[in-house]
Amino acid sequence: MDALFPTYARWDLTVESAEGSIIVDQTGKKYLDFVSGIAVCNLGHRHPAVIEAMEEQMKKYWHVSNLFKSDIQQEVAGKLVANSELDAVFFCNSGAEANEAALKLARKYTQKSKVITFQQSFHGRTFGTMAATGQDKIHSGFGPLLQEFVYHPYNDSKALEEAMNDTVAAVMVEVIQGEGGVVPGTEKFLKKIEELCKKNGSLFIIDEVQTGIGRTGKAFAHQHYNLSPDIITLAKGLGSGLPVGAMVGKEKLKEAFGPGSHGSTFGGNPISLAAAKATLSIIFQEEFLTEVKKKGVYLKAELTKALADQDFVTEIRGCGLMLGIACKAEVAANITKLRENGLLVLQAGPNVIRLLPPLTVTYEEMDEAVKLIKNCLVAEYIS
Ligand SMILES: Cc1ncc(COP(=O)(O)O)c(C=O)c1O
Repeated sequence: MDALFPTYARWDLTVESAEGSIIVDQTGKKYLDFVSGIAVCNLGHRHPAVIEAMEEQMKKYWHVSNLFKSDIQQEVAGKLVANSELDAVFFCNSGAEANEAALKLARKYTQKSKVITFQQSFHGRTFGTMAATGQDKIHSGFGPLLQEFVYHPYNDSKALEEAMNDTVAAVMVEVIQGEGGVVPGTEKFLKKIEELCKKNGSLFIIDEVQTGIGRTGKAFAHQHYNLSPDIITLAKGLGSGLPVGAMVGKEKLKEAFGPGSHGSTFGGNPISLAAAKATLSIIFQEEFLTEVKKKGVYLKAELTKALADQDFVTEIRGCGLMLGIACKAEVAANITKLRENGLLVLQAGPNVIRLLPPLTVTYEEMDEAVKLIKNCLVAEYIS
């Protein structure tokens, strides 16, 4: 009997164990994991520093509530603000919760209600973040949605300029649209959002849930463009697989989020934050981030070479170790085929194969993945 709600289209694969970039299923078959728990296990599976940090915290205590002061929350918050241009952190449990906090704060701080987001964006599944998500298929069946969310075309500065005015509380954007197809924002567009937000007294919110924590070769993806958002939201890679999210904002916003304004029983859980502290201690090192950048350039170049004569592929795009292979037709069958051949990858939109290897992936593992992708795409296209 299946006692779960069928909310996920699950693969026919049950994991027995996982280590580094490798997952082993219950039959003993090994897979190269270029999913990383959907951009979560950025240090690979079961990184020893994360295990040690969690074990240490577990021996002290693992939940007391946010009624108490918390050194571990202060330490992780300190790392997030030291590595961004922001000043204050609210901890929660997921990406949707981080965005929910950002949306609530934007309304409270600005005393305005309209929020602009973008077509094909993805911001989560709660009522607020579902309304922020610019995809009909996510909304379907759940209406009426939360009011005052509007979706503009991504990378269209002119459309945004025409739509912006001083009734807008916030603009929320992904620097690279992840679920929407690994679509990078242009520098011109992202800078235009910042400029228009400043001009209109609107908050500039960057959803870094998927792009953050070193994924693109910088601590946060917006740092490639020297942007100055009012808020960034984080989750996924922050706890290396332990549930934790964070909203990080500017000093000026603190007053609007005073005692009683927002909260979460589990937000900032000590075990999750011990995992986050260990994770950030490794990832927020210049040498580590430089290596991610190098690996990203290598993987993109190798894929481009390997797939050059493959006219099923239209573009290889993305940044760091967040890459998309855009194809001419649906890629679901290719993804199944790759899995059968031992490589786990994701779909993003109907036509894009999304690669999110652990940031600790080796060059040999990347070579192996490129070989499997080349073989599979050739076979699938010909057949
Ligand atoms: C950009 C972005 N924002 C928000 C979310 C939602 O995060 P969560 O599933 O942790 O609620 C996701 C999840 O895929 C995401 O990619």
